[in-house]
Amino acid sequence: MLQISPAGGVGGKRRDRANMSQQAVNGVQCRGKVLTLDNMNPNVKRVEYAVRGPIVQRAVQIEKELKAGVKKPFTEVIKANIGDAQAMGQKPITFLRQVLALCSYPELLEDKKFPEDAKKRAQRILEACGGNSIGAYSASQGIECIRQDVARYIERRDGGIPSNPDNIYLSTGASDAIVTILKLLVCGEGCDRTGVMISIPQYPLYSAALADLGAVQINYYLDEDNCWSLDVKELRRALSAARQHCNPRVLCIINPGNPTGQVQSRQCIEDVIRFAKEEHLFLMADEVYQDNVYAEGCKFYSFKKVLFEMGPEYSSTVEMASFHSTSKCYMGECGFRGGYMEVINMDPEVKAQLTKLVSVRLCPPIPGQALLDLVVNPPQPDEPSYTTFMKERTAVLATLAEKASLTEQIFNTVPGITCNPVQGAMYTFPRITLPQSAIDKAKEAGQAPDMFYCMRLLEEEGICLVPGSGFGQREGTFHFRMTILPPTEKLKVVLQKICEFHLRFTQEFS
Ligand SMILES: Cc1ncc(COP(=O)(O)O)c(C=O)c1O
Repeated sequence: MLQISPAGGVGGKRRDRANMSQQAVNGVQCRGKVLTLDNMNPNVKRVEYAVRGPIVQRAVQIEKELKAGVKKPFTEVIKANIGDAQAMGQKPITFLRQVLALCSYPELLEDKKFPEDAKKRAQRILEACGGNSIGAYSASQGIECIRQDVARYIERRDGGIPSNPDNIYLSTGASDAIVTILKLLVCGEGCDRTGVMISIPQYPLYSAALADLGAVQINYYLDEDNCWSLDVKELRRALSAARQHCNPRVLCIINPGNPTGQVQSRQCIEDVIRFAKEEHLFLMADEVYQDNVYAEGCKFYSFKKVLFEMGPEYSSTVEMASFHSTSKCYMGECGFRGGYMEVINMDPEVKAQLTKLVSVRLCPPIPGQALLDLVVNPPQPDEPSYTTFMKERTAVLATLAEKASLTEQIFNTVPGITCNPVQGAMYTFPRITLPQSAIDKAKEAGQAPDMFYCMRLLEEEGICLVPGSGFGQREGTFHFRMTILPPTEKLKVVLQKICEFHLRFTQEFS
């Protein structure tokens, strides 16, 4: 294959000569690659996604080295970099997998091993599928009876506030729905380009999607000294600064938070909604961790519920989309790519555009839709699967709560690590104090200081974390994100190793 090096150089010259001789052979003008790094979409080049960045690439390489027999100070790499529960050993919930098995291979409906309620759900889902098969496409917005079940789930969750299935869009995980809504919102040129407010630290899907779409990212900082809470004064500061160079139209909230694990109070949500209305912003409420609330005194309130309880002045005007997923909570079924969004107060003509846009990609995966149906419509107390389902669900959430508190406790015993309570979600984002000489050394190597720290931790202990710089943080502060997902005994080992490493690292550079 012919290649012309965009950078020229020795390799480039050699390839140029090869091109010329090829031209002579073919007698045609050779113009090299159509698509090069120089002429590709520049927005794509700006995209960064730290959760699967260089640290993870090195972790994969180390795993291969271990397999090949290379001696290391550890025998396995522990990947605590990503919120992937089942990759960390969490067992799937039996009922969910039973119904999915039945949907995938309907002959099993005759099998006596499967409980009747699982069979009933599978039959209902299959009847709603084209040709009674989950191998068929569905309507682009998602299977209708599943959208109805989602709407009923939202109503139950929010104490009876109505939800219209027409406003529900099933999606390929929450990521897909979030990007789709951003796509609708981003437009304009120069100072009129859409600005999108995102929390810092943030979940890097947001910065990546904004880079891809060429939108303006507006950072608002969470308050680390107050348990990563959100202060409307900070939203105002960020908004008025951004108005100088873009057109802020969107406010994104993650609650419970990733990577910071905070749970917003009802009062805070009310303040945010009031702010969005005053400033004429579209609200995006990322609520994928809605069941993951652990800390005493914390409770999940959906933005939709609070919006409607604030009365018609708000509930009939504030435009909003909220997102949920099958990847998190007690399910951890990341690979099935299930999710939904509910849109509220969206202009009907824009909604028609949204429906058109999702139809271009045909439909979200049907197994993911089926799974979502079981999440929003779980076994009921009078059904045979109820007891086991509740036992499994409660056990997963209780273990996560235990690990959240263990993580905070252990990190806070180490001088130089400060860890806020993990009130919810699946992560901790502790602050690390790094010696100046370590910071200088990292800079010499062209690395962010917390990347340097995490890389050393990976090489020395085999623990894979994500540096805080991948999520954004206040200038001069350093953090890392770690999931609390490893099994309890393994998590204890991980925490111990990180603490020991921190002390060693600090000593080495002091
Ligand atoms: C805050 C937040 N939103 C969205 C997602 C995307 O989840 P999925 O696309 O798997 O539903 C994640 C995944 O970690 C997340 O943490």
